[in-house]
Amino acid sequence: MPTSFRKIRNTQTIPAALMIAVFFCANMCSSRQESDESGPIKDGYGKAFAGSAACISCHADLYKSHIQTAHYRDSRPASAATIKGSFDSRRNRYLFSSSTEVVMEQKDTGFFQTALVNGKKFRSERFEIVIGSGRKGQTYLYYGDDGKLYQLPISYSTTTDGWCNSPGYYPDSIRFNRQVTAYCLECHATNAGSGPDAVYDQEIIDKSQILYGIDCERCHGPAAQHVNYQTAHPGDRHARYIINPALLPRQRRLDACALCHSGLGVALKPAFSFRAGDTLRNYYQPGLGKGTAVPEVHGNQYGLLLSSRCFIRSQIDCSSCHHVHAREVNDPKLFSQRCIACHNEAAHNTCTMHPTPGLVLSDNCIDCHMPALASQKIAIQGSGMSKELLSGASKATPALVRTHRIAIYPESTLQYLEKIKAKKS
Ligand code: HEC
Ligand code: HEC
Ligand code: HEC
Ligand code: HEC
Ligand code: HEC
Ligand code: HEC
Ligand code: HEC
Repeated sequence: MPTSFRKIRNTQTIPAALMIAVFFCANMCSSRQESDESGPIKDGYGKAFAGSAACISCHADLYKSHIQTAHYRDSRPASAATIKGSFDSRRNRYLFSSSTEVVMEQKDTGFFQTALVNGKKFRSERFEIVIGSGRKGQTYLYYGDDGKLYQLPISYSTTTDGWCNSPGYYPDSIRFNRQVTAYCLECHATNAGSGPDAVYDQEIIDKSQILYGIDCERCHGPAAQHVNYQTAHPGDRHARYIINPALLPRQRRLDACALCHSGLGVALKPAFSFRAGDTLRNYYQPGLGKGTAVPEVHGNQYGLLLSSRCFIRSQIDCSSCHHVHAREVNDPKLFSQRCIACHNEAAHNTCTMHPTPGLVLSDNCIDCHMPALASQKIAIQGSGMSKELLSGASKATPALVRTHRIAIYPESTLQYLEKIKAKKS
């Protein structure tokens, strides 16, 4: 990892990446989110943002399906509905040693992580912000006395449905000192206190200025002006003051997703200054790019897609397969239809796999051509950690990533054929 990256983004991305390393589960798409609601989103920085509740009157269907997505639920204020871990007295402790532990407590005043040594409380901090919808896990942030955000020592793993040591902290001692700056929230919120005076790595983030979740306006730009105009001109069926990514040139469309889905990069401008339609390379120096991309724990779908023949030989982009307003997961048949839109007899571009009894290609192009592979980054990510964690947690839950390098994978093909054979017999 280049030192320049460490300088700019070290407090955010490295611990988070470690967390994903620990959280990735073998059965990647099994975790379903229940339809909990955390109330309306708070007013974000500046008057330019309207919040998604303002879209309901005219885009009700889009709004209803959007609030079911992992994007919308990606960050939220801590509450009984948003914290996935259990406060039940039989499941609310995390032991560091025989004498030190953290207890997760639910009180009238909120939810707390309380550190105990020999049964004596030495520190207690409140869950303020939840990061992660819980597909793989969640991590929690608290406000320190200095007004800055920090990571709490205990996180939640969906794989084990239990509390775990937060990524980036040592496994043998309880710490509360890992700072979280605006860059962490840049990929995990719609806006957070950025302004004209913002610096690269803004440390003080006003709670009342956070627009939680990856909401409409993260992908369409601030929309208050659009809402005002369309409300005042109900007869005008032509959209004003709003960005539709579909109308952007291909690279700008890709950039709007690559902002968060191209792994680690070196920041060149303040967090939250990028808007859909902007040129990403003016904001980030890419980390993993074309050719060198590997499935990565903190998501580099963009770099991987770039190295695919589908990408090189067609105008494919993320929306060719993902309809982001809807929650579409764990549905290989549906995704395969998106492949077949290009790969069909008429286009003379079909699968050349030889016919096999029981194999229906259109059931699942994905597991053969976009398999969930073990991340090659995990050994690197884990090398800074103590031996105990390496031999424990990272081994127990192998990190798997749905590769976006679409190609022919003979081994995955064999595995898939075994699977359908087993199902038949
Ligand atoms: C460059 C953008 C980026 C940064 C910076 C970043 N993340 Fe992430 N994070 C992502 C993406 C993208 C995913 C989803 C990855 C995937 O599933 O492929 C993710 C996933 C997660 C998840 C799992 C979510 C779930 O529901 O399973 C957690 C928890 C998380 N990040 C925490 C953090 C924390 C805490 C920080 C800052 C200290 C951080 N991340 C910084 C982009 C980022
Ligand atoms: C008072 C009605 C109204 C409200 C409120 C409203 N819109 Fe729209 N919006 C429209 C109309 C009318 C169009 C044009 C017809 C269409 O595409 O549905 C439109 C189109 C759009 C488009 C497509 C733009 C294009 O060029 O194709 C986007 C994106 C959009 N709106 C986002 C939003 C978001 C985000 C919100 C909430 C923050 C919102 N709208 C609130 C009326 C509204
Ligand atoms: C993760 C990014 C993302 C989020 C969040 C998002 N959109 Fe979109 N939206 C897109 C993209 C990308 C397109 C273009 C899709 C395409 O290429 O066909 C789009 C298209 C649209 C359109 C044009 C018509 C259509 O259905 O394609 C409207 C209207 C719209 N979005 C409204 C909204 C509203 C309202 C919300 C929140 C309730 C929202 N979007 C949330 C990315 C997003
Ligand atoms: C502001 C950062 C950001 C942007 C912009 C963004 N994403 Fe994401 N995306 C995330 C994070 C973070 C997650 C993990 C959410 C979680 O589970 O908490 C995610 C999750 C996803 C998922 C997995 C959803 C699931 O339910 O399994 C898909 C697919 C996805 N993003 C596609 C896109 C596409 C396509 C675009 C562009 C139109 C886009 N994203 C734009 C940050 C972003
Ligand atoms: C937008 C159109 C488009 C979509 C969608 C698309 N592809 Fe492709 N794909 C192509 C084109 C074009 C090629 C190159 C064909 C050639 O070289 O003759 C290709 C190549 C391939 C190859 C050959 C790769 C290699 O390295 O030899 C495979 C396998 C493949 N696609 C599978 C898929 C699967 C699986 C999906 C769905 C998950 C998919 N494609 C979606 C257009 C597309
Ligand atoms: C050719 C089709 C295709 C294209 C193009 C594509 N994806 Fe995906 N993506 C998939 C499939 C299939 C899955 C697995 C979904 C599942 O099983 O639930 C997936 C999963 C994901 C996930 C969840 C990853 C995980 O490990 O849980 C993210 C995030 C994502 N895609 C983002 C993107 C982004 C960003 C782009 C554009 C750079 C993109 N995808 C382009 C087909 C595609
Ligand atoms: C059981 C695994 C499996 C499934 C399911 C599968 N494929 Fe394939 N596919 C392969 C293998 C293996 C090859 C290489 C075969 C060969 O040697 O020609 C291949 C080849 C291809 C090629 C490359 C052709 C070329 O010109 O090189 C494309 C495109 C493709 N598949 C698309 C698809 C699509 C689209 C689907 C879903 C409708 C699909 N495949 C389903 C295993 C699979």
